[in-house]
Amino acid sequence: MAHTSSTATELYCPRCEARYSLETIINLCRCGTPLLVDYDYDTAAEDLDRRLLLAREPSMWRYRELLPVQDDASIVTLAEGGTPLLKSAGLETELGLSNLYFKDETVNPTGSFKARGLAMAVSRAKELGLHKLIIPTAGNAGSALAAYAARAGIDCRVIMPRDVPVAFQADCRAHGAEIELVDGTIKNCGARVGELVATEDWFSVATLKEPYRIEGKKTMGYEIAEQFGYDLPEVIIYPTGGGTGLIGMWKAFAEMDKMGWLSGAKPKMVSVQSAGCAPMVRAFENGDETAEEWENPSTLAAGLRVPGAVGDFLILKAVRESGGTAIAVSEDDLMNDTIELAAKEGIFSAPEGGATLSALKKLLANGFIEPDDRVVLFITGTGYKYLDVLAEWTS
Ligand SMILES: Cc1ncc(COP(=O)(O)O)c(C=O)c1O
Ligand SMILES: [Zn+2]
Repeated sequence: MAHTSSTATELYCPRCEARYSLETIINLCRCGTPLLVDYDYDTAAEDLDRRLLLAREPSMWRYRELLPVQDDASIVTLAEGGTPLLKSAGLETELGLSNLYFKDETVNPTGSFKARGLAMAVSRAKELGLHKLIIPTAGNAGSALAAYAARAGIDCRVIMPRDVPVAFQADCRAHGAEIELVDGTIKNCGARVGELVATEDWFSVATLKEPYRIEGKKTMGYEIAEQFGYDLPEVIIYPTGGGTGLIGMWKAFAEMDKMGWLSGAKPKMVSVQSAGCAPMVRAFENGDETAEEWENPSTLAAGLRVPGAVGDFLILKAVRESGGTAIAVSEDDLMNDTIELAAKEGIFSAPEGGATLSALKKLLANGFIEPDDRVVLFITGTGYKYLDVLAEWTS
């Protein structure tokens, strides 16, 4: 059997092209840009016959050669990833589609796709000898960090908006994280993290401000490819806050291309946001390369209340390169569609997942999506974390 070690080589900056060794403990590039992990794709392609994957464990760690963790002993896992691709049961016919799928990320540890990114970030932090991790979060990322830090025996501090659903506060506390509630949004939480990093020895694992969360999130792209037999679907609809998953999947597709794994075209990547906070949609529509900060952001989909993202230019680039689009949906639509997912598909989703269904309806109506297209909606988190919000909406 081929050896199963990482083929990661270095970190690189997608803007100024600076390179850093994998031993460097670093957040952003010296030019202020998110850093990405490079691999030796020739060796990866040689070592890893993609058919071998099917015999491996059903978690994101099956893509071992294409992940950055150097030593297996560093892996901190709760069996994240390996999530189902569900074919639509009720909505497909009703919407006049023949190939509608849901990537069900609700079944991940801590109830969301954030588990993938934080499992990777914590594993690398452990490998690099870091002992104190801090995160600004809209909720799910904090839960995930708290759980993996608990498992790794690493100190954890979570900074979140005062009005996040109560479940996030409860599970972070249960996992032993120190939590701090801040007035405002994740942006204000980020500023507070900045202060704490400057005055105490915390290491920030904020979205795209360290290089490894995206490497966990990219495994969603590898899984989709595997689940479609390496003939990728026509459209992927992704609820976008910081955008790590969208950027990560686009990176995964590029990696698979380099290794000769893909046959047809790549999917159109659709970024969906709430009309109450849609900086990427506005930038996309204006033809801008980066996104201006959104004033007074407001949405019940807590993970989408991200007024500005450090990876904005990477989100916009992926959406444009893919021939995709960015679309805003109303709060009423995304909440009603969250309930519709539960009523017609048996999927109890977070409001962020409901937003993908709202986007699908709009894109069918305007002709962007064709009835024969294979469409994947990303159900990024479970509704059980948002019981306070959903109880009110259904009563
Ligand atoms: C359930 C859920 N969906 C989507 C998002 C947005 O994800 P990203 O930051 O990768 O764009 C979040 C972020 O908190 C989330 O919790
Ligand atoms: Zn740079």
